[in-house]
Amino acid sequence: MRYHVVLGMILAGFLGSAQAADRIEEVAETCNACHGANGVSENPAIPSIGGQHESYLKKVLLDWKNGVSHSETMASLIKDYSVEQIAALAAYFAKKPWTPVAQKLDANLVKLGENPARRCAACHGDKGASHDGETPNLNGQWAEYLEMDTLKIRDGIIPVTDQRMVKAIKRLSAEEIKAVAAFFASQGK
Ligand code: HEC
Ligand code: HEC
Repeated sequence: MRYHVVLGMILAGFLGSAQAADRIEEVAETCNACHGANGVSENPAIPSIGGQHESYLKKVLLDWKNGVSHSETMASLIKDYSVEQIAALAAYFAKKPWTPVAQKLDANLVKLGENPARRCAACHGDKGASHDGETPNLNGQWAEYLEMDTLKIRDGIIPVTDQRMVKAIKRLSAEEIKAVAAFFASQGK
């Protein structure tokens, strides 16, 4: 192959990937409108996604796209994105730093949650900072969102891969679920 042809191909490949990165940045702006700059949410009902684990992000998005799981807001929105775009979005947000959000929490509730949160620690870590890619970080996530999501997992509205989690959650009262959510929400990095 002639030298300038090879060079042209390298250059085209380089520009192609630079453009793809630009496009994902643009697509992510749609997400940031709700999820906040860099995926750090300012809305208690919307989860932070910046710095969340890549394979977890990909899984939940694909579950919505494939109709395995339902969400009022996310399911119809994500149907417009290709599997490749979803993978790129998951990788993009996972590279951002996980930033526990500052939120007002009832100190008694946080204390009450400490003990039952031990039932979650085997997978989510003592403070909710998980180390395996399939298990999402809970530390510093919005308490309101965590409570809502835990109730959906308990009630089978969100299908999960590991039934041990459902069992652990079903052992908790509604008040304990609220407290566990507050406990994890109060944790830093
Ligand atoms: C109109 C507001 C809105 C927009 C735009 C939006 N989201 Fe969401 N997103 C939400 C809400 C609300 C939830 C939580 C609701 C739920 O679980 O049903 C959510 C949940 C998620 C979750 C689950 C996080 C977790 O911890 O389980 C992911 C991942 C996500 N969104 C990614 C995205 C991506 C990627 C985009 C851009 C393509 C996007 N969202 C655009 C509102 C939005
Ligand atoms: C056996 C491991 C395991 C245990 C124990 C466990 N979880 Fe999970 N959890 C997971 C995994 C894996 C996911 C990702 C969803 C899935 O199953 O595909 C998850 C997801 C979640 C989510 C969704 C987070 C988000 O960002 O939307 C919440 C909330 C949650 N877990 C709360 C809890 C609570 C509360 C407990 C303890 C009472 C608990 N989990 C115990 C493994 C576990």
